Amino acid sequence: MEPTSNMPALGRRQLMTGAAALAAAAGLGQRASARPAFVRHTQEAVPATTQASGALALMDLPYESNALEPVVSANTISFHHDKHHRAYVNNTNAAVAGSALEGKPLEDIVRAAFDGSDAKSRSLFNNAAQVWNHDFYWRSMDPDGGGKPEGDLLAAIERDFGSFELMAESFAKVAGGHFASGWGWLVADEEGKLSVMSTGNADLPLVHGKRALLTIDVWEHAYYLDHQNRRADYIRQWMEQLANWRFAASNLAG
Ligand SMILES: [Fe+2]
Repeated sequence: MEPTSNMPALGRRQLMTGAAALAAAAGLGQRASARPAFVRHTQEAVPATTQASGALALMDLPYESNALEPVVSANTISFHHDKHHRAYVNNTNAAVAGSALEGKPLEDIVRAAFDGSDAKSRSLFNNAAQVWNHDFYWRSMDPDGGGKPEGDLLAAIERDFGSFELMAESFAKVAGGHFASGWGWLVADEEGKLSVMSTGNADLPLVHGKRALLTIDVWEHAYYLDHQNRRADYIRQWMEQLANWRFAASNLAG
């Protein structure tokens, strides 16, 4: 699907109506005051996590569990992927079981639960969004990653940040400076302009009209076993050795 920057305003309203209707059908409360319209960016690079049964599946890692060492150890992954990520998947499946959201694509569940007015909606959003975020995080890393991007992505970075180095500096500052649990992101807006941002807890760019290109998890469970309180070291090494620029380029092109 094309990004909705090319879609008429009516199309965007219809998408919002669809998300609200889905939420209502699932028994999720929605706040009366709507937030600004968000844009549906279908991110083709995100793996389909819906199984034939309709339940979400824990995605398989696209590399061996020790392939990201020493920046991210197999020990960290044994907790982070096998326990934390799995719990988000299981919690989401349990929350939507028997509702209108059961069997829906993950992105639809995230959108339907976003901006919920009750504890049930907030819990579903937190779990479903964390499934999406972690699916995206694992693919944001590559054992042969790091270095610099090429082609259109590098050109866009140089256009919007001045240089790759300035982007990397800004990314590290935003991700490292995020207070408490959250995520650092390289994103594109509707016009394709790149920027960096952080989100707290389970929050994510797609409900704020941004297309995610790359993300780093800065919850302590992502780095504490390997780097303890040295979040800045984790971010720097992650960028230098693991950042998956091919994935980011595919998201920009998608
Ligand atoms: Fe995480």
